[in-house]
Amino acid sequence: MVSMLRKQEELLSKIASGNGHGENCPYFDGWKAYETDPYHPTENPNGVIQMGLAENQLCFDLVQDWLLSNPEASICTAEGVNYFRDIAIFQDYHGLPKFRNAVANFMAKVRGNKVKYDPDRIVMSGGATGAHETVAFCLADPGEAFLVPTPYYPGFDRDLRWRTGVQLVPVVCDSSNNFEITREAVEAAYEKAQEDNIRIKGLLLTNPSNPLGTYLDRETLRSLVSFINEKNIHLVCDEIYAATVFMGQHDFISISEIIEEDIHCNRNLIHIVYSLSKDMGFPGFRVGIIYSYNDKVVSCARKMSSFGLVSSQTQHLIASMLSDDEFIDRFITESAKRLAERHRDFTWGLSQMGIGCLKSNAGLFFWMDLHHLLKEQTYDGEMELWKVIINEVKLNVSPGSSFHCANPGWFRVCFANMDDETMNIALSRIRSFMSKNKEAKMPVKKLCWQRSLRLSTSFRRLDDIMSSPCMSPQSPLVRART
Ligand SMILES: Cc1ncc(COP(=O)(O)O)c(C=O)c1O
Repeated sequence: MVSMLRKQEELLSKIASGNGHGENCPYFDGWKAYETDPYHPTENPNGVIQMGLAENQLCFDLVQDWLLSNPEASICTAEGVNYFRDIAIFQDYHGLPKFRNAVANFMAKVRGNKVKYDPDRIVMSGGATGAHETVAFCLADPGEAFLVPTPYYPGFDRDLRWRTGVQLVPVVCDSSNNFEITREAVEAAYEKAQEDNIRIKGLLLTNPSNPLGTYLDRETLRSLVSFINEKNIHLVCDEIYAATVFMGQHDFISISEIIEEDIHCNRNLIHIVYSLSKDMGFPGFRVGIIYSYNDKVVSCARKMSSFGLVSSQTQHLIASMLSDDEFIDRFITESAKRLAERHRDFTWGLSQMGIGCLKSNAGLFFWMDLHHLLKEQTYDGEMELWKVIINEVKLNVSPGSSFHCANPGWFRVCFANMDDETMNIALSRIRSFMSKNKEAKMPVKKLCWQRSLRLSTSFRRLDDIMSSPCMSPQSPLVRART
């Protein structure tokens, strides 16, 4: 039987028979656990609550009202059906001009209109997922690599690497400085890659960060821009969470703003990945955008976009919606307000139980610190706790190891894909778990194990762990002295 299966596999490509997709990791296991036992307030009140999905569902009422007041925006209504013929036959990979204009204006709006975007540089793709892969295809050959600061979105291991053969080299950022990306950390990862004969083609930033929920300050962005210019490598900025910055925080700073400043920057090296999956909450529409300042990349990416176009029906609807300035202004403001409130309520509830989170100002999630609940400060310890959280507390939160986090004990908690009642149930489940857990009453030691973690781990060893696609529960451990 086994040899039969092996023979079958030999008939397939390496991609089809391999497991480069990286699906076998706790990040995706958590989703499976939710799918087999999903929480429902009346039908399955003891089921798993999905807190592993970065979806923005807090403003759907506004979108639904808009759809009802603008029936002509859809070709499936009496008011819009006259557009049906034109939209149904449209198949140009440049996209509808009105769609590209609307997206360019929207991108400027969510960045406070401090920068402008040229509609001719807007290239579509199937979500940011497709956009990342296309950019990787345009910038790197198989075996070449991108530097990626940790912790990072687990999907990058699939999106950038799987079909392209490109590698990701982690830039180790840790909790000793709140996971800030320092020039030293980036230099160290770059030098290490050189020693290992890995050619670095670019640096990939996610700003605001998934999973940290923080955005980069001007100085950090400037220093990273000067780094990539010195090394003559690309800078890919995933700004998919640009409009999730909470109300009352400072403005988000886009990479576009930095390169408009009077600093030395070769614009051909700068590329933005964007999508409507988070800021508008439309991951199902698969509207992804590549905005490159490099003409050759724009041209190549546009040709490649034939493999993942946004349907013209979606373009038509989105063009109308995004062009309604009054609606979009209201949506962005209201969304930033509701995200801030939900984040405040959730993290306050946790703080009352002695659970801390990284201070954050954006995103659809927060980064929860449970290291004080680990039996041992290792990834095994983290997995053990995660299994209790998923199987007994029945919450699907995502363990830090899936984000290549350097310190065990951090978990990403998504908070914008549920209503207030579900959040309160999640909080009450955590409360009863904490009260049962005696260790939780111990004072939280000031992250003193972090330093010993670094000392007790050779760079190579940590590097191996950091660069595995997604660590499985059986992964080799970083043993920290406590
Ligand atoms: C940082 C980041 N980039 C890209 C994606 C993929 O987004 P999309 O649904 O547009 O493909 C996600 C989704 O969670 C993400 O968090």
